[in-house]
Amino acid sequence: MPVQQYDQGQLYHLLDLQGLPADFLLSLLDLAEHIKTKGPATDYRKAQLLNLFFENSTRTRFSFELAASRLGMRVLNFDTRSASTAKGESFHDTINTLAAMRPDIFVIRHSENGAVEQAAEILQNRVSIINAGDGHHAHPTQALLDLLTIRQHRGHFDNLRLAIVGDILHSRVARSLLNGLRALGVEDLRIIAPDSLMPDPSNSLGAKPFTDLREGLDGAEVVITLRVQVERKKDHSLMPPPDEYHQKYGITMERLGWAAPNAVLMHPGPINRGVELTDEVADSSRSLILKQVENGVWIRMAIMQKLLEARA
Ligand code: CP
Repeated sequence: MPVQQYDQGQLYHLLDLQGLPADFLLSLLDLAEHIKTKGPATDYRKAQLLNLFFENSTRTRFSFELAASRLGMRVLNFDTRSASTAKGESFHDTINTLAAMRPDIFVIRHSENGAVEQAAEILQNRVSIINAGDGHHAHPTQALLDLLTIRQHRGHFDNLRLAIVGDILHSRVARSLLNGLRALGVEDLRIIAPDSLMPDPSNSLGAKPFTDLREGLDGAEVVITLRVQVERKKDHSLMPPPDEYHQKYGITMERLGWAAPNAVLMHPGPINRGVELTDEVADSSRSLILKQVENGVWIRMAIMQKLLEARA
């Protein structure tokens, strides 16, 4: 049965930004700012979070753990090496088994497209589910922290020109962020990639495609460079070697100068220094990378507060 993630201001799951209205997205950003300055409204000490990461993570996992701790929640982490999945238990059975213990929220990361939505379809409203990244499909909390970072930097989304550089074809980060920006009315969106890493034109995500970095960066106020996904070995034939990629698409200080004056650089992490960007760019005052990481905690607190309010 299809699952309902949102209805009239109530958030039941966060699976994807698609279908979430602009006013709700903005209200999440406002709540994150409020929590940042004033702290959470309530102590959620009776609520329990299970972090289920079937794929590696540093930022997202620890960000959820810290966010939940700051809300007063109990956090339990699932270890794929010692869990019964290592004995062959199916994803379906693992999810159902853990839900029977009646936690409030599952945070799920999985390498398969659609796995998190599948979990929500299995469990319906027994547990609220947050997608912490599934395959190439969606990474909605990353998109929300990126939106928060962009709004903090510019104050608003009006007349924004934003360029995303890198492996657009395999990027759940790009897909979710473009969904969010389009919902907020941003039209001047650009994707920059070699032909082999560019999605089919029929699926260009509402952004204008460029294969030439200089043309694509022209006038962009925000430049987002994506991680070269070295672990996705089956797609390696599409990926230029790292040196060649850096030659054509690596962001250097000089190339950042092709964008708008004072353009800022963002990256979801983890970064490959010397491939997607130089040390000089990563560590410069134009880089918002660590601000993105900080904002991840505030936005995840806001998301969990909304989910817990809907469960009350
Ligand atoms: N941006 C991001 O999802 O990073 P992690 O893989 O470290 O969670």
